[in-house]
Amino acid sequence: MSKKIYLYGNWKMNMTAAETRKFFDEFAGCYEPFKNDSGLEVGVFSPFTSLWALAEGAKKCGVVFGAQNVYYEAKGAFTGEVSIPMLKEIGVDHVIIGHSERRHIFGESDELIAKKVKALLDAGITPVFCYGETLEERESGNTFKVMERQIKSAIAGLTPEEVAKIIYAYEPVWAIGTGKSATSEQAQEVCEWSRKLIGDPKVVILYGGSVKGSNAKELLSMKDIDGALVGGASLKPGSFLEIYSEFKK
Ligand code: 13P
Repeated sequence: MSKKIYLYGNWKMNMTAAETRKFFDEFAGCYEPFKNDSGLEVGVFSPFTSLWALAEGAKKCGVVFGAQNVYYEAKGAFTGEVSIPMLKEIGVDHVIIGHSERRHIFGESDELIAKKVKALLDAGITPVFCYGETLEERESGNTFKVMERQIKSAIAGLTPEEVAKIIYAYEPVWAIGTGKSATSEQAQEVCEWSRKLIGDPKVVILYGGSVKGSNAKELLSMKDIDGALVGGASLKPGSFLEIYSEFKK
């Protein structure tokens, strides 16, 4: 298996700055055997308040790091928001956009998400764009309809070069934090379909939703799955990197 694997950890609202430093103290040792493996790209996405600590740890280990959200305006009267220049100052070059928790808990619309994707691309930052259906949408046979709306809205008006720069993450809402991952066939079906819809065979597409060591090999071996966006299992260096070692077995 020669494809490159993207192993990205979304810490969600976990990990203070002190906990982030502690994570990297341990991660540095665990990551040593993988450091020169060109088949693996690790990324970690922390809350805003831990980004400086994350930057320090991630740079030392040579892994990608980023934020979990951003606002599309550069500055101004937007109480509580964080801008792209603020993230750039920390050295952030990847940002998760459109995570289902942003869509469903905080009411982010396709329009808002599309503006964020465009603003990031304009700033030379890689958006990690998330999309996926709820259980209700899947059970009512609307999975592909919903995702088509989500994806088309995010890439509308972008050039093919811009579309190619986005990292896509299929995250079925019913598989997130539930311990119940999509089957590898379900995930492959959607990722293959997404690649065709996006219209670029080379785009990077991750799967997210209860990925852990025990299901890593099955999921990551699928042809159209380029890696994983990991929540719970990314909070400990051991369980996070185990996903890659299990894939390689
Ligand atoms: P879990 O791995 O905890 O299911 O979370 C997935 C996720 O939402 C990553 O963005």
